[in-house]
Amino acid sequence: MNTSNYKLSANNAHLKYTDLLPYKEESKTTQEFLQKIIDILIDFVKATNDRNEKILDFHHPHDMLKLLDLKIPEKGYNLQQLINDCATTLKYQVKTGHPRFFNQLSCGLDIVSMVGEWLTATANTNMFTYEIAPVFILMENVVMTHMREIIGSNWINGDSILAPGGSISNLYAFLAARHKMFPNYKEKGIATIQGQLVMFTSDQSHYSVKSCASVCGLGTDNCLMVPSDLQGRMIPAELERLILDRKAKGHIPFFVCCTSGTTVLGSFDPINEIADICQKYGLWLHVDAAWGGGLLLSKKYRHPRLSGIERYALY
Ligand SMILES: Cc1ncc(COP(=O)(O)O)c(C=O)c1O
Repeated sequence: MNTSNYKLSANNAHLKYTDLLPYKEESKTTQEFLQKIIDILIDFVKATNDRNEKILDFHHPHDMLKLLDLKIPEKGYNLQQLINDCATTLKYQVKTGHPRFFNQLSCGLDIVSMVGEWLTATANTNMFTYEIAPVFILMENVVMTHMREIIGSNWINGDSILAPGGSISNLYAFLAARHKMFPNYKEKGIATIQGQLVMFTSDQSHYSVKSCASVCGLGTDNCLMVPSDLQGRMIPAELERLILDRKAKGHIPFFVCCTSGTTVLGSFDPINEIADICQKYGLWLHVDAAWGGGLLLSKKYRHPRLSGIERYALY
């Protein structure tokens, strides 16, 4: 991205943020500034979808630092410099939506979703109450209800929450499971649990699952990593063995995390067999579907146990 493609008119180039709305609005400065930024974004979208473009203009960090001016200035830069910096930022960005980009996890750039991000950033709101974001709050309700409908008809009147990512979703699931088993924990704290809580996840699961044990006071020794088979799927017999082992020690197994689409191999743990074990021993079953969730919920592949499991959390 050549910064010379994004020149502001001579009247506006030297101006600063204090010459934009809401401070001032003279000779359509704000409009011209925003238009140049949009040009940069659209050019990046086009380059991302162009097979002849490089996926990445790679430089080692010490060379990259020479190409950029990252020092934090005492005085604000002028508008032209801000535009140039935006173009430079995208010039060296990995084009994760490029047709030849094959790394795991990232997928193509969805233009409609991107517009959604622009829309919410422009609205500059939060999701506290209906008063501050009437349309977004209603939208949220509709989306959540639909998600519960997909999981199963007995969930329609339930409750759910949108999460900002997979790690937080795993933490929410952990907290929900502990609350279900020990509803007084919220008020009384740790004293309400008479024993050592233990959780289980496969040795292929995302590290955020284990970190729940650390941040919630279990200790990582009490997050048991269940061995997986050669295809990276949790071995149910190993799960049961470990549950029984900990029960024999007087511990309290309470939570199992299945992964539907493991981070590295994309393996799906056998939910049915694991659900049977959870039901047998009264454990909460969570499915971390951070990147395989679409497949798990799609009509074609919808998992038969999704609406049958009593306590179930899905990201
Ligand atoms: C299976 C799985 N769970 C959880 C996460 C964490 O997601 P996030 O980075 O959104 O917190 C990832 C991220 O790669 C993942 O692959």
